[in-house]
Amino acid sequence: METRNSVRPHGPVVIDIENITKDYVMGEEVVRALRGVTLQIRRNEYIAIMGPSGSGKSTLMNMLGCLDTPTSGRYEFSGKNVAEMDDDELAAVRNREIGFVFQTFNLLPRSTSLRNVELPLIYAGVDPERREARATQVLADVGLGDRIHHKPNELSGGQRQRVAIARALVNGPSIILADEPTGNLDSKTGDEIMELLENLYQSGNTIILVTHERDIAAHARRTVHLRDGLIEMDHVGFIPELDLPVAG
Ligand SMILES: Nc1ncnc2c1ncn2[C@@H]1O[C@H](COP(=O)(O)OP(=O)(O)OP(=O)(O)O)[C@@H](O)[C@H]1O
Ligand SMILES: [Mg+2]
Repeated sequence: METRNSVRPHGPVVIDIENITKDYVMGEEVVRALRGVTLQIRRNEYIAIMGPSGSGKSTLMNMLGCLDTPTSGRYEFSGKNVAEMDDDELAAVRNREIGFVFQTFNLLPRSTSLRNVELPLIYAGVDPERREARATQVLADVGLGDRIHHKPNELSGGQRQRVAIARALVNGPSIILADEPTGNLDSKTGDEIMELLENLYQSGNTIILVTHERDIAAHARRTVHLRDGLIEMDHVGFIPELDLPVAG
């Protein structure tokens, strides 16, 4: 049986970034959020990105997900230079290759679970019948088969996050980017979400997870620590006890 931290054989490099920087210009002031990050991620890796508040974790996730463009540096996604992709190619990567999960769930408040999960399929032009069947299936897969007609405020926090995960999965992406997915959940509910991510990893997905919590990071097989916009550590396999950040 596989132990929690054992490293699976990985596939080819899917995310290849070299010397990425990101400056946010705010009037006179420039915030250097990323100052030269180089990182390679292979298919079916499970990575935790850690680091203090403001160290650039979310900025890096936005780059990886092609939601934002770097100030300088190179990004190749599946061997293709992202800077040279046209709008259709970028949309295809964002909508089909990558699923996003956010700390605050980002659900449409007045729409049912079903509708929230159907949304990416509407953008993808899937016809209503197939859309509903697919969204219903994915909601059942995350354990919400009996909650498809509930709206977000009629669901618990963990259930809302599962709706958000179902939405991220509905187009069948191979890469899941999750920015503090358990940040707004109690620890038991957080564990359920982590189990869901573990299952996705075991079925071949690539998981990239931002977290402040070492218990959560311990689910990953590799940990990347950011500090002041730079990678200060990159461990594969077990997280050495001495390198764990101090809790709180
Ligand atoms: N849109 C923006 N405009 C200007 N500055 C920004 C913007 N987004 C982030 N920053 C700044 O860039 C730096 C990195 O921010 P980022 O959100 O990536 O940090 P983080 O590591 O995700 O922090 P946290 O753990 O608090 O979520 C911070 O100093 C932040 O203030
Ligand atoms: Mg953040």
